[in-house]
Amino acid sequence: MQVSGKIKSKKIVILGTGGTIAGTAAQAGDNLGYTAAQVGIGQLVAALPALASSRFELLSEQVAQVDSKDMDFGVWRALAQRVAHWLAQDQVQGIVITHGTDTLEETAFFLQAVLDPAKPVVLTCAMRPATALAPDGPQNMLDAVAVASHAGARGVVAVCAGVIHGAFDVQKVHTYRLDAFSSRDAGPLGYVEEDRLCLLRNWPSAHAGYGPLAIKNIAIEAQDQSWPRVEIVMNYAGADGRAVRALAADGVQGLVVAGTGNGTLHHALEVALLEAQAGGVRVVRATRCLEGRVLPKAGDALADSQGLSPVKARVALMLELLSKVAKA
Ligand code: SIN
Repeated sequence: MQVSGKIKSKKIVILGTGGTIAGTAAQAGDNLGYTAAQVGIGQLVAALPALASSRFELLSEQVAQVDSKDMDFGVWRALAQRVAHWLAQDQVQGIVITHGTDTLEETAFFLQAVLDPAKPVVLTCAMRPATALAPDGPQNMLDAVAVASHAGARGVVAVCAGVIHGAFDVQKVHTYRLDAFSSRDAGPLGYVEEDRLCLLRNWPSAHAGYGPLAIKNIAIEAQDQSWPRVEIVMNYAGADGRAVRALAADGVQGLVVAGTGNGTLHHALEVALLEAQAGGVRVVRATRCLEGRVLPKAGDALADSQGLSPVKARVALMLELLSKVAKA
C-alpha cells in the first residue's frame, strides 16, 4: 500500500483494479491499440499533484490489475473484502475504485447489493489510456475524489465525464465517447462541477427488490463456494429453444432472458424457458431495450427483472441463488 499526502485526520482510500485508466499504448496518439491494466494505482495517484490539495489523506492499494472484460468472481470477492475492510475504519471518509469501463456497471451493482455502504464508494474509469495525448482518466479521478469527499455521500456510484450515476442505473452505452455512461430513464444522480457537486437525486440505498439483506457478506465470506451458474439468453427473430435446452442439460442454475420490448419472447424460446423453469432453473425476464423496464402483468409465468438490465439481473440472480445455498 502506498501513502500519498500529508497526515490528515480523515482518509480517502483509492483502490486500483486496472482498466483503460491504467492502460498504456506504444504511441501517445493511439487511443485504440493499447493494453489495459498496466500502470499501478500508486503511479496513477502520484501523477496527479492536484490530489495533494485534498483535505483528506489519500491512501492507495492495488486490489487487482485486470482488463474488466476479464472480470471474475475472485476479483469481486477481493474487492468487496477490501472495501468492507476500509469502510469499517472510522477515519475513512470514502473509497474511490479505478475500474475498466466494460463491466463497471456489474461491479457497481454487485458492491451496492452486497455492502449497501453508508459511506461513498465511487467507481471511476477512463475511455482513453493513461498514455493518451489527452487522457480522460486524471479528471475522472479528481471528480471521483470530489464525490467521495462530499459530506453526506453514501452508496455505490460511478463517476465518468463529470456525471454521477447510481449503481442500480448506470450502464455503458457508447463504445468510444468519453461520456460513455447513461443512467437511462432514471437520469444521473448529479454532476461534478469544478470540484463541487450538483445533486439531482438521492444516493443509492438498499433496494428491497434485489434480495434480502441476508446476502450481505455471503459473497465475501463464501471463499470456496463456487458461484451459481447463471447465463443470459436473448430473444430475436428466429429464436428457438435449443440454447436454453443445452444450458439446462449442462446444469445451469439460472437464466436471464433479454426479451424484446416489454420482455416478450418468441414462442419457441418461451416454451423452452418454461420447461427449464419447471425443471428447477430460475428464470428472470429482462428486456434488450436500452430504456424502460419490463412491466409485469397478472398471470405472468416468468418473473421480471424489476427494472434491472440483463447483466445486472444476472448478478442479482447469482446473489439470490448464493444466499439460498448459504442458508441451506
Ligand atoms: C476495461 O474495461 O478494462 C477496458 C476498457 C475500458 O476501461 O474502457
